[in-house]
Amino acid sequence: PKGLRVSDKGFLNTAVIQSQITYIDGDAGILRYRGYPIEQLALHSTHLETAYLLIYGTLPSEKQLRQFDNEVMSHSYVHADAENFFRSFRYDAHPMAILTSAFAYLGSYYGEANPSLQGQKLFTNGDRSSLANMDRQIFRIIGKATTLAAMAYRVRQGREFVIPPAGLSYTGQFLYQMDHLGQENYKPSPVLEKALDVLFLLHADHELNASCTTVLQTGSSLVDPYSAIAAGCASLYGPLHGGANEAVIRMLISIGSPGNVPAFLESVKRREKVLSGFGHRVYKTSDPRSFIIRKTADEVFKVTGKDELMETAMALHDAAIKDEYFVKRQLAPNVDFWSGLIYRAMGFPLDFFPVLFAVPRVVGWLAHWRQMMLQEGGVKIWRPRQVYVGSAKRDYVPIGNRP
Ligand code: SDX
Repeated sequence: PKGLRVSDKGFLNTAVIQSQITYIDGDAGILRYRGYPIEQLALHSTHLETAYLLIYGTLPSEKQLRQFDNEVMSHSYVHADAENFFRSFRYDAHPMAILTSAFAYLGSYYGEANPSLQGQKLFTNGDRSSLANMDRQIFRIIGKATTLAAMAYRVRQGREFVIPPAGLSYTGQFLYQMDHLGQENYKPSPVLEKALDVLFLLHADHELNASCTTVLQTGSSLVDPYSAIAAGCASLYGPLHGGANEAVIRMLISIGSPGNVPAFLESVKRREKVLSGFGHRVYKTSDPRSFIIRKTADEVFKVTGKDELMETAMALHDAAIKDEYFVKRQLAPNVDFWSGLIYRAMGFPLDFFPVLFAVPRVVGWLAHWRQMMLQEGGVKIWRPRQVYVGSAKRDYVPIGNRP
């Protein structure tokens, strides 16, 4: 088709929508949610308050926040039938694969969310009932994200599922359901509860990253939001994206000690290895989240004790940020470099780390999904074009006449 320009492989620099949700300046290392600097939100806000901000565009009043919190928490329960679904997985199933399937499973019985069942105008004419229906789907997905994650965790251990008591915070009820330290009458430590809330807030959104684009691409066909979120989970699962926090720890374990860092960096320069947790498609100076996570790590280590991989991580970080090879390629630590060390110190299993990225990120995916559903003129299916560079027209050759 005329006038088409290939934006390099992988959307290297392609703007596909206008958005009012998140602003990133990759050169200046700036990240703002609805105009508020991430540093201020991390210091003063909570994950659920920030979720309200990302989804509805304003900081909530006390009453609005209480209502939102109650709605999300009241939707955190999952029907008992779901237990059979979770028990169908093998003991060694990756929890991110379980979570991805679990959201698709939710879509199987929240069919009324599927706009194509009720005409394509459901979410685009903005009438009260459809807005209320959309909000209910949003509450359900945010509320159930922690429960599905906790169920994915416990089913692999063959342990029963836990219903948390009312009155806990969002991260408190998550930690209670996980009870990942297996303590009798487990009471989440306020420091760990707060640290996890900050980490959730920092992971809540990041404009059109691979997984958010996947959610919008999928949602643009008017499929139900649970199926679109499942698609986002599948994209986030990859080691180049949300799987990087797990890959960083595996990398640090393989390096073994600070003394092995120079040899490891040489292997990266020979392109035999990737320096996981470094580099970013947009941030070319620094990822502002990594500084906040680094500070949060010190808070957590006061309670859990420093992770023995920390020395290697600091030696790797200090060497790489000064090394010409990485400086020239504008490779700096990203959100995943330090977060895995916190999750590990908190006692989460390694393969659970991408799940700890997906749970908060459903907020950003839903904020963008809602923005698309309510856009002027209704939803348009996303259908990119290509530039064809294959064979010219040629006639079929019967198999007997082929070489
Ligand atoms: C997230 O998009 C988002 O916003 C994502 C995210 C979010 O919040 O949603 O921020 C979360 O996914 C963070 C990124 C987590 N991934 C990793 O840490 C994996 C390691 N990082 C790389 O795979 C890479 O940096 C990417 C995927 C993150 C970005 O890759 P790009 O933009 O496609 O960069 P590139 O591959 O074109 O690299 C440019 C150069 C290349 O060298 P040359 O061929 O030019 O010589 O830098 C090199 C690359 O080889 N390079 C790396 C490297 N990242 C890039 N070399 C070694 N180690 C790395 N990590």
